[in-house]
Amino acid sequence: MREALEKIEQAAKEQLEMVSEAKALEELRVKFLGKKGELTAILKQMGKLSPEERPVIGQLANKVRSDIEQAIAQRLESINNAEKEKRLKEETLDVTLPGKKIKIGKPHPLNKVLNEVEEVFIGMGFDIVEGPEVETDHYCFEALNMPKHHPARDTQDTFYINENVVLRTQTSSVQIRTMENTKPPIRIISPGRVYRSDTVDATHSPLFHQIEGLVIDKGITMSDLKGTLELLMKRLYGEECKIRLRPHHFPYTEPSAEVDIMCFNCGGKGCSMCKQEGYVELLGAGMVHPKVLRDCGIDPEIYSGFAFGIGLERITMGRFNINDMRLLYENDLRFLGQF
Ligand code: DAH
Repeated sequence: MREALEKIEQAAKEQLEMVSEAKALEELRVKFLGKKGELTAILKQMGKLSPEERPVIGQLANKVRSDIEQAIAQRLESINNAEKEKRLKEETLDVTLPGKKIKIGKPHPLNKVLNEVEEVFIGMGFDIVEGPEVETDHYCFEALNMPKHHPARDTQDTFYINENVVLRTQTSSVQIRTMENTKPPIRIISPGRVYRSDTVDATHSPLFHQIEGLVIDKGITMSDLKGTLELLMKRLYGEECKIRLRPHHFPYTEPSAEVDIMCFNCGGKGCSMCKQEGYVELLGAGMVHPKVLRDCGIDPEIYSGFAFGIGLERITMGRFNINDMRLLYENDLRFLGQF
């Protein structure tokens, strides 16, 4: 029995040396010291011993058990230490390394200018309304005094869904929709996409953006139109900027005007940028035609109003000195990152 006990101790120590995980160590503990383990099996045979041998073997068995327990504890500690060291090594964190840069996007130049325009008009008590991009011929042309075969349609050829449904060529359609279901006073702007079957070049795109404006109330005059647009342009381009109204024709306004801004480059003297004009064309505007008002159920004897349509691309290009419209749509971050 003494021999058997010594063998167990020896075997336990040898096998402990080979173990490198806490889990395997526990398995060994069960194997040698557990209720069904090797040591217990030997102790169960103690009854067969003589009374003299019993205390001696008993003592030895206790010593073997505590030796093995101690060896397991030591081994566990060294396994734990090794694991801790390994983790520390793997998880070292160099707090002096520079952090990862997170790239933050910014508004597209068109949105930037649109936000500015909206802010100016909200400040003057305007509402912002939207209209459909797929529009009926009626709202896009007919109700704006442009019946079929009207020559003014020539410059606004568009994409036809069918004979009566088009991709809108102008946000002016929203004027009609608004007047039809709102009682004056009306003060709105309506930004949005418009479409024309134009070929792409530095100043044309089959898809671009307009901002429509409409004011209807008692006693509205051309001077209200001029004052409103002047305020907008000074906010966008600075206090020293000057605008001028030039007679023009739109079927849905009377009188009509084109609004020009003084050339930033030459200050009105004339240069290559403004084609020697001194001014650059910005937008169309006018006093809403009495027929248009009447057709929308608004009495032109009581109410009058002005309307305008601004090309968002045009005022954005002027604002940031961009000389090619295509740059706005190419989504090249090297370009867009500059604004
Ligand atoms: N709809 C015109 C265009 O697309 C711009 C315009 C002119 C809008 C006069 C208006 C206006 O509201 O009164 O060229």
